[in-house]
Amino acid sequence: MSVAVIAGDGIGQEVVPVGIACVDAALAREGERIEWVDLPWGSDHYHRTGRMMPLDGLETLARHDAVFLGAVGMPDIPDTETLWGLLIPIRREFDQYVNLRPVKALAGVPSPVRGGDAIDVVIVRENTEGEYSEIGGRAFRHRDRESAIQVDLFTRYGIQRVARYAARLAASRGGTLTSATKSNGIIHTMPFWDEVVGEVVAEHEELRLDSVLIDALAARLVLRPASLDVVVASNLFGDILSDLAGAVAGSIGLAPSANLNPERAHPSLFEPVHGSAPDIAGQGVANPVGQIWTGAMMLEHLGFAAAATALQEAFEAVTADGVRTRDLGGTASTEEVGAAVVARLER
Ligand code: NAI
Ligand code: MG
Repeated sequence: MSVAVIAGDGIGQEVVPVGIACVDAALAREGERIEWVDLPWGSDHYHRTGRMMPLDGLETLARHDAVFLGAVGMPDIPDTETLWGLLIPIRREFDQYVNLRPVKALAGVPSPVRGGDAIDVVIVRENTEGEYSEIGGRAFRHRDRESAIQVDLFTRYGIQRVARYAARLAASRGGTLTSATKSNGIIHTMPFWDEVVGEVVAEHEELRLDSVLIDALAARLVLRPASLDVVVASNLFGDILSDLAGAVAGSIGLAPSANLNPERAHPSLFEPVHGSAPDIAGQGVANPVGQIWTGAMMLEHLGFAAAATALQEAFEAVTADGVRTRDLGGTASTEEVGAAVVARLER
């Protein structure tokens, strides 16, 4: 088993080594190991070569079983370059159409909102089309009439497959699937989204569909977080909701994510929800739990279920014990949290 590692930029360089050490410790308990292959891609590579990754980057990644990524993005490079030069091509070329983002309150982590410590939701975000489309352009540059057009792209195929994944997940959990929509204001794509999601849910007799307008859903996530279980959302809505849900659970630094190609025709990519956090990079205070949790999701996907469970229990126990970084009101460093998780796994 071999995993490509892109630590990337900013705090990615700090949380990825910690994530790897924790995954290794969880595997060692089972007498298993994986091979990590470091790829020095990201903003430094961009400064040297004008590209975030080499021209044959995707071919290199395709030779691995999974990709373990920290974050990319630096203030001195436009985010369009960093995102569209690395992450988005990987998600699209490897058809990672499910972006799975579980958000669960951890024992001992206070939520900034009332009732937030009961949050346990999985956001299933469509990851290849929707609002993040390449269709559009700029016209009349630098003139009074300067304009920009961005076209959303929603396909029956694309909605159907992400809705099917979410429906199966909802059936295996609480039995209710919440769909994020905006069919009152966005009158072409969102009613189509509602229709196709409705058809998919109708294939599951036991499942209840709750279609909620995105603005009301955002408010509900803050006011009644425990009322949500599995949420299926378009690319943009899912992106926003998952940062919000992560914050409700206590810190965006806790939130993990998996970019999945459920058919396993291509490698899947595992990364925390947060970005490169240039404001705290280099200080050793970044919360590594999002990256560690991401590692547990990767272990599960790669078939190491026992190691995944052990890792999950270990970081939950360490957090509950009070070994926490500054964003959670603690004083532990990134490395101290990692060392505590490893020590627990080695017990
Ligand atoms: P961000 O997630 O990097 O930071 C937002 C806030 O959360 C900051 O105050 C940061 O200090 C804090 N934070 C984030 N992760 C944390 C952690 N693990 N522990 C403690 N605090 C944490 O989002 P921002 O500032 O919008 O973006 C910074 C850069 O990251 C940009 O270039 C952006 O494009 C990029 N980015 C990359 C992503 C990726 O690689 N998947 C995802 C999101 C943003
Ligand atoms: Mg985001």
